[in-house]
Amino acid sequence: MKYLVIYSSRTGNTEKIAMEIFEALPGNSKDIQRVEEQSGEADTYFVGFWNDKGICGGEIMEFLEGLHGKQVAIFGTCGMGEDPEYCRQVSKRVEALIPEDNRYLGSFLCSGKMVPQVLERYRMMQRQKDSPRIRQMIQSCEEAMLHPDSRDLANARMFVEEIIGETGVF
Ligand SMILES: Cc1cc2nc3c(=O)[nH]c(=O)nc-3n(C[C@H](O)[C@H](O)[C@H](O)COP(=O)(O)O)c2cc1C
Repeated sequence: MKYLVIYSSRTGNTEKIAMEIFEALPGNSKDIQRVEEQSGEADTYFVGFWNDKGICGGEIMEFLEGLHGKQVAIFGTCGMGEDPEYCRQVSKRVEALIPEDNRYLGSFLCSGKMVPQVLERYRMMQRQKDSPRIRQMIQSCEEAMLHPDSRDLANARMFVEEIIGETGVF
């Protein structure tokens, strides 16, 4: 198979991006699978994760570490996806898991709404002790509430088109 989209998603945000990426991939030699049901092999992988405390979760870690001789792109959603510097750091951490005998194709991250309990917890922390940092976290959380939105989906599609255009991976 040419392409496999492999992803992990707890509340559906990353799944939305995964499905958009899958649809944007050309041809019929492609499949999309949750990481826990992963089977089969492909030349090119699009591996999706949700940000769990600054990096991907364990299953995606294991999956990436097991890839060899492939072309690999990563994508993900995170609560603080509107902060480009933060996203760069998260991408770098996940990228570092990919063994060097693969060809790394790039990353795409966007915002994904967090479960309401997170915002509640931040608001409680703010009531106990306000600070610029906690205000920033609450703002990010509120901004993420509407994501992934149609712009995120369009950007995900563009990410695929750029990879295919630049690398000739088709
Ligand atoms: C246990 C847990 C830890 C999280 N840690 C972070 C984090 O460190 N940074 C961040 O930006 N978002 C964090 N998030 C938010 C998720 O990454 C975000 O909501 C993501 O879009 C969820 O994707 P999903 O719907 O595909 O599961 C966390 C969410 C949970 C549930």
